[in-house]
Amino acid sequence: MSGTTETFQLSLAAAEAYESMFVPAIFGEWAPHLVQAAGVAPGQAVLDVACGTGVVAREAADRMGGRGRVVGLDLNQGMLAVARRLRPDIEWRQGDAAELPFDAGSFDVVLCQAALMFFPDRAGALREMARVAAEGGTVAVQVWDRLEAQPGYQPFFDVVARHAGEEAVDLWSAYWALGDLELVAALFEAAGMEVAATSTRQGAVRSASADELVRTEVEATPLGERIGPDGYDRLLEDARAALRPFVTADGRVEMPIRGHLVVARA
Ligand SMILES: C[S@@+](CC[C@H](N)C(=O)[O-])C[C@H]1O[C@@H](n2cnc3c(N)ncnc32)[C@H](O)[C@@H]1O
Repeated sequence: MSGTTETFQLSLAAAEAYESMFVPAIFGEWAPHLVQAAGVAPGQAVLDVACGTGVVAREAADRMGGRGRVVGLDLNQGMLAVARRLRPDIEWRQGDAAELPFDAGSFDVVLCQAALMFFPDRAGALREMARVAAEGGTVAVQVWDRLEAQPGYQPFFDVVARHAGEEAVDLWSAYWALGDLELVAALFEAAGMEVAATSTRQGAVRSASADELVRTEVEATPLGERIGPDGYDRLLEDARAALRPFVTADGRVEMPIRGHLVVARA
């Protein structure tokens, strides 16, 4: 089954911004939930597919307290350079989710956070995750809910679509492309796995200000290379209005974001 042409590739500078801005704003909060849902425990072998700067792998390693093996894999060398700088004790590998460079049955747990939507062949990637998982092992994936279920991102998306062009729309559409849990279950089935549990939770996007959140969404994502200075200024002005309902009395942004955790047995 085909997926997307959007693969969320970043420069080293953008990968640094991803870690310092985007991870604390959004992704950090989800890592403990994914690791917990997957039942990561000391002594296991754990793979984090499309690890980015490594927030999930770090969480798994911390939970395992130095007992076991954690590997983070990503396509992007910039992301991996940041991951390696932060945690040289974890094994970081460059590779493609479509063709994981590991033997069958190598891992007790395979994790993948906020990335399945960026793989051109999503069922194929899940098949690879199932292959490298041990028999009876766990494959656990986090994806975002549908755009219509995102009270903050829906109006924000409209602003991005208005000002940042078609490539930006492709990127922002990919974020929400796996919000339908039935579709996700069908992908797992196509990969030869049965979903054991799903949960949907609401997290929060946290930022020091509306301007800071817009800066994060531009500088720490591929959007940065797809929008000129004029487009950025126009986007910022309209985004301030769209984000106003989520600005607190002291100027911070706290905006809900919904996502799914999907756990399957290999
Ligand atoms: C939004 S980031 C999520 C990163 C990380 N899992 C997190 O929670 O912060 C998406 C990641 O998917 C990676 N990616 C995209 N396509 C990939 C592929 N085919 N194989 C491996 N990684 C891929 C990108 O390089 C990027 O690091």
